[in-house]
Amino acid sequence: MPDSHDLSEAPRPAVAGVAKAGAGGPVSSKGAETSQPAVEFRNIDIAYGKFVAVRDFSLSIRKGSFVTLLGPSGCGKTTILRSIAGLVDISSGQIMIDGRRVDDIPIYKRNIGLVFQSYALFPHKTVFDNVAFGLKYRNVPKPEIARRVGQALDMVRLPGSEKKLPSQLSGGQQQRIALARAIVFEPQVLLLDEPLSALDANMREEMRVEIKKIQRETGITAIFVTHDQEEALSMSDRIVVMNAGSAEQIGAPQEVYDAPATAFVADFLGKANMLAGTVSRSEAPTSVMLAAGQTVNVISPRPLASGSKVTVVVRPQKLSVGAAGTSNRLSGRVVSTSYLGGSAIYEVDIGGSSSIRANAPINGQILREGESVDLGFDADDCVLLDDGGQRIS
Ligand SMILES: Nc1ncnc2c1ncn2[C@@H]1O[C@H](COP(=O)(O)OP(=O)(O)OP(=O)(O)O)[C@@H](O)[C@H]1O
Ligand SMILES: [Mg+2]
Repeated sequence: MPDSHDLSEAPRPAVAGVAKAGAGGPVSSKGAETSQPAVEFRNIDIAYGKFVAVRDFSLSIRKGSFVTLLGPSGCGKTTILRSIAGLVDISSGQIMIDGRRVDDIPIYKRNIGLVFQSYALFPHKTVFDNVAFGLKYRNVPKPEIARRVGQALDMVRLPGSEKKLPSQLSGGQQQRIALARAIVFEPQVLLLDEPLSALDANMREEMRVEIKKIQRETGITAIFVTHDQEEALSMSDRIVVMNAGSAEQIGAPQEVYDAPATAFVADFLGKANMLAGTVSRSEAPTSVMLAAGQTVNVISPRPLASGSKVTVVVRPQKLSVGAAGTSNRLSGRVVSTSYLGGSAIYEVDIGGSSSIRANAPINGQILREGESVDLGFDADDCVLLDDGGQRIS
């Protein structure tokens, strides 16, 4: 699982347009020029009583980057976020912020911005007072508060909303206020726990772009939590795929999508066809006899003994209808068709009670249930897993 060990992020040039502290914008990218990680988890465990919710979790987060913890419900995402803010204690390991152990920093002195799924605004306070909260708490002088609140509201594109009450705003607007409140005091790290899940689909997409833009403009280090793979793929510099309290794979979106390290990652991050089979020819090109009875050629990074059990992982988007010009062909019968506009998802029975899903552009006629079809894919468009579910490398 090589990717799981690659826990550091390569330094990149500082984000363009970064605001200077107290000058151009409400948030500065403190120390973006150094290579010291903004946040570092070193082998942390977190337990609730006897239940270990997070196990041996390590991650190094580059300053100014956007990292997403992605995983199913209960895998420990919120627990990890809460540990940075000091809202839950770690049982072992270390958490460092800007090179300093957080255990040494009292909770009230941790300079962290938080945005939750529920906007958690004070309902009886105005937008101004909601956003100003963290600044008043830090004894910032009044004129400076007014200036910074104004800047933060500009940034979330709600200028002039100071006097409104949260109840006079839409869900998306309330979430923008929550974001303004979290960035206004120039936190070292911004933590976002499923901030978009209470919004409708359109608003969610708009806010995705908005949050990403603000993060880029301010150069703030952001840790985002979601169980929505599309959100993770579209917003992140790095994704941490979590499973049962541990990091299963850490990598750039395309890396974890195209080269999943495990069966869990392949399955969780986007739909994947997982075709079980047995190696029938060990020398290149490696052939795999699928349980469904058909044989495919794959590229194995190392020789595999004949008879080894493997799983061939191929994304629905990599399958073409017709198999012209591809090195592999699977023949089957359409079980169901879902029309999506420019493309369609076909569920195709390929025998041996296996079905395969193809997401293909519609060129001409859309395929109907019961039609015979050949699906094609190239040998280098699939990933091979061993019988323990680990990518063969
Ligand atoms: N205060 C608590 N006491 C006991 N167990 C807890 C507590 N908080 C969380 N847990 C357990 O720890 C595990 C991780 O919880 P956590 O909230 O971090 O998951 P999550 O990945 O954020 O899930 P979700 O996507 O549902 O928000 C779960 O099994 C949960 O039941
Ligand atoms: Mg959670």
